[in-house]
Amino acid sequence: MRIAVLNGPNLNMLGTREPEIYGSHTLAEIAAATQERARDLGVECAWTQTNHEGELVDAVQRLKGRADGALINAASLTHTSLGLRDALLAVQVPFVELHLSNIFAREPARHHSMIADLAIGLVTGFGPQSYLLALQALVGRLRAA
Ligand code: DQA
Repeated sequence: MRIAVLNGPNLNMLGTREPEIYGSHTLAEIAAATQERARDLGVECAWTQTNHEGELVDAVQRLKGRADGALINAASLTHTSLGLRDALLAVQVPFVELHLSNIFAREPARHHSMIADLAIGLVTGFGPQSYLLALQALVGRLRAA
């Protein structure tokens, strides 16, 4: 089973970026922990991060035929990107939306997600654990299908 993990803008700054909200782990550390969990679950995991909306759209388009499912932390683009939504509608790859912080406990602008209704489900607010929980949930769902 092939799982893609897509990360949006500013997540490359984790570790130093607003640690009181996002914690002190770097994205590389989170990627390593996610890879380890993927190995335990017996699935392949491909990791992407971009600061650019078009590149995230390209990454979603590439999922078709290449990934069985995806974990998506679209970061700020979660709240704004109709292009991201359209790409997900086009490829129809099952995905879990995830966030480190609880977006519903933050500013009102973060309460809306452009993609949440397309997702299997959401994991939001568990810090780096959000990635591991989302992976476990996605793999469980795909295996049950
Ligand atoms: C985030 C939450 C978003 O609102 C924010 O723009 C991010 C990170 C999270 O993982 O908590 O960049 O997706």
